[in-house]
Amino acid sequence: MNWPMHGANPQYLYERASIEMPENALDFSANINPLGPPPILLDKWEELFQTVHLYPDPFASRLKEKISELHGVHPKQLLIGNGAAEIISLLGRILAGKKVLLLQPAFSEYEEVCRINACAISHHYLAAENDWELSPSVLKKEISKMDAVFLCNPNNPTGTFYPKQIIEEMLVICEQNNCYLILDEAFYDFVQDYEDMVPLLKQYSKLIILRSLTKMYSIPGIRLGYVFASKQVIEQLQHFQSQWSINGIALQVGELLIDQEEFQQKTQIFVQIEKKKLYNFFIKEQFMHSESAANYYLLRDPLFIDQKELLTFLLNNGIIARHTYNYPSLEGKWLRFAVKSKEENQQLQGVLTKWRQVHPSSL
Ligand SMILES: Cc1ncc(COP(=O)(O)O)c(C=O)c1O
Repeated sequence: MNWPMHGANPQYLYERASIEMPENALDFSANINPLGPPPILLDKWEELFQTVHLYPDPFASRLKEKISELHGVHPKQLLIGNGAAEIISLLGRILAGKKVLLLQPAFSEYEEVCRINACAISHHYLAAENDWELSPSVLKKEISKMDAVFLCNPNNPTGTFYPKQIIEEMLVICEQNNCYLILDEAFYDFVQDYEDMVPLLKQYSKLIILRSLTKMYSIPGIRLGYVFASKQVIEQLQHFQSQWSINGIALQVGELLIDQEEFQQKTQIFVQIEKKKLYNFFIKEQFMHSESAANYYLLRDPLFIDQKELLTFLLNNGIIARHTYNYPSLEGKWLRFAVKSKEENQQLQGVLTKWRQVHPSSL
């Protein structure tokens, strides 16, 4: 089957699976904050509308200043993007024809963008049996032949978080080998007790940190992300970015939301509580799950290798999971779910209980 490339837009998944989409279907395939956007966004919405007739600031100066102050990074080491997805595309442009290492399973857009830009792509497979553990020393030889490594932290789709010590070990190897470490932190703000990687920019010139406002602030429709890197890399990325790439509303939304720390903490606590309940249920019903530091997790029924039957059962019951057919090494053996509201997570548990009744586990 020709599976959709990404989660979200579930009508396409139903279409490809030839199943009629139930009216109240719940989309667990997009990893967006279950609390929705911070209330300040709705409060200011009409005010934002007053500026639609204006061209956006092509230099995004005010938002840049705010982000650089917040993180203690020089504005010349920062670029705002039309979503982190745009920055990944721009990175692809500067890596055109170069050797790139992807740690799989990883966000599928890295491979897509590298392929379009004729990069020589290598894969290193992280193993489910070791909880997708990352061992920098094992990668040393491979990295010595590379121009860039993509590392998603916490990783999408597993939710595995690699601590600062591992990232530093990776950076030391990358610096020695003149290889960029592209650290995708699109979900960093969901991680409790996250250790800030940004100060490492001062020490490691090959570090590139990518971030998104989409997930935490529940604004996938606005499109906003940013990247920290050396001045030289930022200049190169900027060179390929189109004029007025980030719309004026998005720039103002960024200014409103970038320092909503209380909202972040509230979200982290909520997600943690819901994950705990879900994990307890999975253990009781004998489903396997990944230990995720983010607002999503992997799940599988160990009675099946390929999870297509479960995916289809869920679709028929109005639950949309993210398939994993285009994640090398997962290849349909897992499904990914977002942590949603308490009621929605309960609905998922209800449908999984129904599934277990049809497929009792004898484990
Ligand atoms: C790991 C990762 N990085 C980047 C992105 C792109 O995010 P944005 O919505 O900011 O373009 C996504 C979107 O799903 C993602 O999962």
